[in-house]
Amino acid sequence: MIGNRRIVLGVSGGIAAYKAAELCSRLVQAGAIVDVILTAGALRFIQPATFNALTHRPVATDPWQPWTESAAGHIALAHNAAAIVIAPATAHTLARLALGLADDALGLVCLASQAPLVLAPAMEANMWRHPATQAHVATLIARGARVVGPEQGRLASGLSGEGRLASPEAIVDALQSALVHNASLAGRIIVVTAGGTHEPIDPVRFIGNRSSGRMGFAVAAAAARRGAAVRLVAGPTQLATPAGVERVDVETAREMLAATQTAVADADALVMAAAVADFRPEVELTRKIKKRPGDEELDLRFIRNPDILATIDRPGLIKIGFAAETDDLIENAERKLRDKHLAMIVANDAVATIGSDASQATLIRAGAAPVALPPLPKDVVAERIIDQLAALLPPRDAAP
Ligand SMILES: Cc1cc2nc3c(=O)[nH]c(=O)nc-3n(C[C@H](O)[C@H](O)[C@H](O)COP(=O)(O)O)c2cc1C
Repeated sequence: MIGNRRIVLGVSGGIAAYKAAELCSRLVQAGAIVDVILTAGALRFIQPATFNALTHRPVATDPWQPWTESAAGHIALAHNAAAIVIAPATAHTLARLALGLADDALGLVCLASQAPLVLAPAMEANMWRHPATQAHVATLIARGARVVGPEQGRLASGLSGEGRLASPEAIVDALQSALVHNASLAGRIIVVTAGGTHEPIDPVRFIGNRSSGRMGFAVAAAAARRGAAVRLVAGPTQLATPAGVERVDVETAREMLAATQTAVADADALVMAAAVADFRPEVELTRKIKKRPGDEELDLRFIRNPDILATIDRPGLIKIGFAAETDDLIENAERKLRDKHLAMIVANDAVATIGSDASQATLIRAGAAPVALPPLPKDVVAERIIDQLAALLPPRDAAP
């Protein structure tokens, strides 16, 4: 998997920079074409000559240096890389990557590349635990980066704690799986629904819910990052369409059903993250309701909307549902999983999750023990859901 692949190895300025030479040597021995980029911090610890000798290739240190590969060296490196691995990744480099700063060769290459990114942080334990570092790591994971380590053990300070660079074996393993994983949904068609629905009462009023659409949009973005063709059926929301995603906007449950039915015709999977209104006003008035003197009450009669997840049941279609409940969450989710023939259901506390950026979800697969996730940003939960979906899809040659 690594043999003959072009790997960019970024080294930043931590005390573990010397260990990057061992990693570099292993990658070269595995047959990779390794382009090394050193940050200004790394240059305080280790010299380009070490990597130059190991890779037989130029080592990038300064975006202004004359490039040997082409006129725009960092862009060529970024576009040609099969993967980028940064080891060690300092707290400072993690922060710069999370912010998308491009003031050195490594930042530029990371920003200009769509290759999978593997980060091996190494630092003093308090630096690693600091909320700033943790927030940057969460942001990078949400964007699809893989983080390996840091490990527990003796640190350069002499103290023991979490902060040691992961072993070269663990970093190479993470790199291998990033190379496989990155294309894990290539050739697949995934339909995702997102947001709430608006059910009209009269020409100016509707009944809706507090769903923001963030979970479904995050799932669509995560599936697109893994190479799937993604069709997103979105209820009313202000959110921007994720890169590479085809979007259809709908308003009511019935419009969502029709658009989803069309979208799943040749799809491999349906992820139904939308919060669809169970009921709609029986009649949509063509004229605005006016209040008249003496009107103290308004009666509206509601009728059932179609159940999209139950209605769409095509053989071979993998269906993933969501259950947002205020009571008896797991029991209700498990019932929904069985009744609607789902491959998996994502159970969430309705009050904590709807309209929020974070979610505390439990992933329940038919016939498997539920996986309770800690509170995580929705982007990270979306990555976990897509991990499960990739595992649920039948092997490529057996796919419909
Ligand atoms: C002796 C020494 C050791 C350091 N070790 C680390 C380290 O292990 N991890 C880390 O995140 N920062 C470490 N730093 C701080 C970084 O070198 C500093 O934040 C620098 O700006 C990182 O820049 P870079 O990420 O662009 O390489 C160390 C600094 C010094 C002086």
